[in-house]
Amino acid sequence: MTTSREVHLVARPEGLPTEEDFQILETEVGDPAEGEVLIQNLYMSVDPAMRPRLTAGYELNQAMSGSAIGRVVESRAEEFAPGDVVSNRHGFKEFFVSGARGLRKLETIQGLPLTVHMHALGGTGFTAYGGILHIAQVKAEDKVFVSTAAGAVGSVAAQIAKLKGCWVVGSTGSDEKARWLAEEAGLDAVVNYKETPIRKGLGEVATAGIDVYFDNVGGDHLDAALACMNERGRVAVCGMISGYNEPGARTTVRNLANIIYGRITIRGFTVADFADLHAEFLRNMTDWLLRGEIRYQETILEGIENAPRALIGLFQGLNAGKMLVQLGE
Ligand SMILES: NC(=O)c1ccc[n+]([C@@H]2O[C@H](COP(=O)([O-])OP(=O)(O)OC[C@H]3O[C@@H](n4cnc5c(N)ncnc54)[C@H](OP(=O)(O)O)[C@@H]3O)[C@@H](O)[C@H]2O)c1
Repeated sequence: MTTSREVHLVARPEGLPTEEDFQILETEVGDPAEGEVLIQNLYMSVDPAMRPRLTAGYELNQAMSGSAIGRVVESRAEEFAPGDVVSNRHGFKEFFVSGARGLRKLETIQGLPLTVHMHALGGTGFTAYGGILHIAQVKAEDKVFVSTAAGAVGSVAAQIAKLKGCWVVGSTGSDEKARWLAEEAGLDAVVNYKETPIRKGLGEVATAGIDVYFDNVGGDHLDAALACMNERGRVAVCGMISGYNEPGARTTVRNLANIIYGRITIRGFTVADFADLHAEFLRNMTDWLLRGEIRYQETILEGIENAPRALIGLFQGLNAGKMLVQLGE
């Protein structure tokens, strides 16, 4: 038996979640049976898409789930040996027992921390890659606007657009993040939407208009982008975080008529839409990271007791780059 802790959802939040909506419980995890492994999670991810699942999706008074990476402590499955590092969907738990299904062995890449598998080389990086290249189809000279540009998805999407020869403006919510975007990620312009309303700020810097908008925010950011779109502009809708604390991700957009006269295409997507690009993504992203052409930030909170705070923090701009919780050494 191994003593573990896990996070339960105990109340469905209205609006911004509070720490009282969650509870940390101690549990006993049994020994692995034949074909199973005991895993200690090292890092877990928190993601904006977990917010709608707090309203409908996660069961009350059950352990929550999400992506994580962990180390095999004990193995009775021939595919895994103690010490192997595996990605899994058992986030929000310190230890768990599992069959081999759903576990994927990760190789450490020399020169890169293990945690890149949870962002730039993981789901958020792949979302950015497929979204900006396959859905938005950026090409050299495009004028590109990426919202939440200092976040896990946004920072990668914005830098890929730069690598492809685009002019890129990003929006973010703090001067520190804005500085990183300009000085480290090499963006051409940055708008701190908490200091200047996004419509005004974007209009001031995007003097040649916008050909591509990579939308992570919806609401006022989508509205501001529509006001600036050039003819035949493309909007790749990745997320709408500004609406996630409202049931149904409600959002107010006033400039929809611009779609008609501007012949604008708006296309939503999920990573499942370009699964066939995954091997190509891994090759390119590994090269870009090793050459320092894609940079990243991580915000790592320590201990499972901080998982609720990490999740809530996504809606307060607490994270620069990928938000992770460290669960083990
Ligand atoms: N389509 C897909 O398959 C897919 C997959 C993954 C993620 N997504 C979406 O991609 C977006 C980014 O996800 P992520 O994991 O990379 O998160 P993230 O950007 O790393 O973290 C969330 C950030 O959103 C910003 N934010 C929070 N509330 C906001 C608001 N009301 N208005 C404007 N900005 C706000 C904050 O940054 P600031 O300090 O800059 O405000 C915060 O740090 C989300 O919308 C998510 O749902 C979609």
